[in-house]
Amino acid sequence: MTCEYFGKCGSCTLYELDYDEQKKFKIEYMRELFGAFDIKEFEWRSSKKSHYRSRAEFMIYHNDDNISYAMHSLHEKLKLPIKQCPKTDEKIYDLMPKLLACIEKNEILRKNLFSIEFLSSCDEILVSLLYHKKLDTIWENAAKECADILNVKLIGRSRNIKISINGDFVKERLDANGKRYFYNLHEGSFSQPNRGMNEQMIEWILGRILEAKRVDLLELYCGHGNFTIPLAPLFEKVLATEISKTSISAAKQNAALNSTQNIEFARLSAEELTFALKGVREFKRLGGMNLFAYDFTHVLIDPPRAGLDGVSREFVKRFENIIYISCNPQTLERDLKEFVKTHKIAHFALFDQFPYTRHIESGVILHRLPSSK
Ligand SMILES: C[S@@+](CC[C@H](N)C(=O)[O-])C[C@H]1O[C@@H](n2cnc3c(N)ncnc32)[C@H](O)[C@@H]1O
Repeated sequence: MTCEYFGKCGSCTLYELDYDEQKKFKIEYMRELFGAFDIKEFEWRSSKKSHYRSRAEFMIYHNDDNISYAMHSLHEKLKLPIKQCPKTDEKIYDLMPKLLACIEKNEILRKNLFSIEFLSSCDEILVSLLYHKKLDTIWENAAKECADILNVKLIGRSRNIKISINGDFVKERLDANGKRYFYNLHEGSFSQPNRGMNEQMIEWILGRILEAKRVDLLELYCGHGNFTIPLAPLFEKVLATEISKTSISAAKQNAALNSTQNIEFARLSAEELTFALKGVREFKRLGGMNLFAYDFTHVLIDPPRAGLDGVSREFVKRFENIIYISCNPQTLERDLKEFVKTHKIAHFALFDQFPYTRHIESGVILHRLPSSK
């Protein structure tokens, strides 16, 4: 990938290295960070080298009646105006200048706009426009015209206001191990930013968990069911939990879209779930589910950057097999230090979700040590 903003834009920090050098750099970094662990190999999964992001967010830079997209500058605390970003997938890349032109010429759409977010799927794009002003029907009519011309779904957001035009989710299809999965991806809830890497992560988990005996699966940060749905056929039953209301409701829809019937979803934080499973607290949100009818052989965790809280970290150790997807090597290292007291690392993979940046996504599978059974 080449970009005219390399060295100026704060988004790409590894711009001086070509793709193979970035791979070497990241593996070396992980070798050092995880040097104290018994890891035979870091499996590596490559990304597309450009146009890999199906989610992107830009600030808006105003100069009189003109606007442009902007990113944080690499070296100074400044907004750097940019015309395009070659990390965005082809659909977003193609839409960006057209959308900007449509907004710029209309003062109602332009004024007080401070950020634009894009979410794309195999066939659709959802754009969110974020404002520092109240949105009304005049704004809605102008936005509708723009959305129809560009054939996109569009959301206007300002404090306590959300106006959806043509819908607030996109339909996604993912292929993994010869199977196709369907998802509705909603604005305002998490989705993996690199579609190709996401398919590779799903394939990797599906392939690596076959070696251990499987009965029921517990998932603690299930989002909209991204991993839950492909994994469900490998288990008798699945209990999948998540803190976000929007994500849990999307996950239920997505399970129905894929005719998956062996998953129960509950909106509980990881910590709340540990209390429920230990029988310490009851939650109305469980709606009469019998948590004690499960025989969990596996737990899957894909937490935010902060990793696991102390209670959940201790709780996860009670399971025979742990599948840990992490977007932050530092918190992964902290959590693994605890897990290797009772478990052995069987597989460790690096998924290059974010080329040209220092971010590293990992997948780790652990099995309980015979001495801890
Ligand atoms: C990295 S995302 C992973 C989502 C999903 N596995 C996927 O691949 O799309 C982390 C998810 O954890 C949820 N989350 C954040 N804090 C949480 C908590 N304390 N307990 C449970 N879920 C939480 C977020 O809403 C988000 O959906």
